Amino acid sequence: MRDQQISPELLAWYDKNARDLPWRIAPDKSKAGIRPDPYHVWLSEIMLQQTTVAAVKSYYVKFLHLWPDVHALADAIDADVMAQWAGLGYYARARNLLKCARVVSGDLAGVFPNDYKSLLTLPGIGPYTAAAISSIAFNQMETVVDGNVERVMARIFNIEKPLPASKPDLAKLAQTQTPRQRAGDYAQALMDLGATICTPKSPACNTCPITQHCAAQAAGTAASLPKRTPKPPKPHRKGIAYVVQRSDGAWLLEQRPDKGLLGGMLGWPCTDWGDSVMPCPPLETDWLKSPETVRHTFTHFHLELEIHIAKVGHNAVPETGHFVEKNAFDSSVLPTVMRKAHSIAMKAMQQD
Ligand code: ADE
Repeated sequence: MRDQQISPELLAWYDKNARDLPWRIAPDKSKAGIRPDPYHVWLSEIMLQQTTVAAVKSYYVKFLHLWPDVHALADAIDADVMAQWAGLGYYARARNLLKCARVVSGDLAGVFPNDYKSLLTLPGIGPYTAAAISSIAFNQMETVVDGNVERVMARIFNIEKPLPASKPDLAKLAQTQTPRQRAGDYAQALMDLGATICTPKSPACNTCPITQHCAAQAAGTAASLPKRTPKPPKPHRKGIAYVVQRSDGAWLLEQRPDKGLLGGMLGWPCTDWGDSVMPCPPLETDWLKSPETVRHTFTHFHLELEIHIAKVGHNAVPETGHFVEKNAFDSSVLPTVMRKAHSIAMKAMQQD
């Protein structure tokens, strides 16, 4: 079973059914030896980490428009990049994106390395992204392993061992299937198969181009794979966000420290987020507590934020943060949790 090769049928299917994605070279061009711009591949793969294709598309197009090449991105103002990244989440990616652009632009004359090992040395590029760039942009025989690829391998080989313990086994299986030619197309074909046919629930096995190779389909276990060892539940944390508007309409905002959660992003002054709430208002005033709270889930915890609101006079001097003029304020530059706090505060202010 393990000696069988899925790539011929998979690639033939990809040639006809590849999704049209803004960072992608169509399979006929790829087969003709045309490669996508490594800057495009790198940018898209960083954005696609832990994020869906649907969410990434418009951000990718916007970034390419604003910063068409790696030198332009390297020269960008940090706060502008963070602002344009707002809403996409996992903000360390944006900070590393800039760091990496500056290394490639400043030290490597704008040329991305073409091999896995050199790519791994760059900021923000781990094993997944190094394999994706080297295979997709440079057609190196490297194996990309993401959640889609793991799912397809677990099914093709009917692997009952649960994730995450099975990760190394699934990666090895994906490697055994990687073709010498067209490794980049193979990676993208697996991603497309996983996204459109070999989906987590109700896989469409009747239209699958490699169903004849699928041990799980034969065993009737496809929909139940991959198995997963349950994760411990996420802890709940609490805090307060202070939303302050000055009489001229300016908003009190704070740039979060570079290190840590939402690092480098703009947000409302907040208490620490922990097991209990320790008030820490940015100025002395009468606060209105919104009846609504913000609920937001991060990778490692659930957060419930109380929203405390104040309108202050022109002479107010906050202990933390700075006022941003009404016309210069654009809530779309805020990370999602802070944008939710803004909408709740606006509602409460209108009712007040
Ligand atoms: N997910 C991550 N990288 C991708 C790619 N290159 N194409 C489609 N989906 C992806």
